[in-house]
Amino acid sequence: MPDETLHLPLIQRVLEREKDTPGALLPILHAIQEGCGYVPDAAVPEIAHALNLSLAEVRGVISFYHDFRTAPPARHTLRLCRAESCQSMGAEQLAAQLREQLSLDDHGTSADGSISLRPVYCLGACVCSPALELDGQLHARLTPERLRELVNGCQEEGTC
Ligand code: FES
Repeated sequence: MPDETLHLPLIQRVLEREKDTPGALLPILHAIQEGCGYVPDAAVPEIAHALNLSLAEVRGVISFYHDFRTAPPARHTLRLCRAESCQSMGAEQLAAQLREQLSLDDHGTSADGSISLRPVYCLGACVCSPALELDGQLHARLTPERLRELVNGCQEEGTC
């Protein structure tokens, strides 16, 4: 685990800037995640204090929204679409392939830290189903072979 105290200056800057904004909690969490790559646990008491909330309230919001990470991200993030159009074009089989290849649930990080899986519910590429997003880039009309190549690329250091 990284030394989370290194993130405290950034967290304090975000809080200083945002704490008086109405509904500040979500913008604060987004800004911290953008700056640190995730929301460090060390941020929770700082946020709670600045917004006069309890620790449980802040933790509850972080865990409710799937977009917030509580650990540093893997080197690559793969978001496989699981919504209707992609489902009808084989997304469930691709999800099973990913689970097997990476020994992961649908949502998790591989043991070597190379790749995180995150399901997503429509990427706006339904006509080109099945689709996924890898590190922000869309890949559509996926086949099992293409998916395996993409994952292999992520697992080889320095590529992808
Ligand atoms: S349902 Fe998968 S991109 Fe829309």
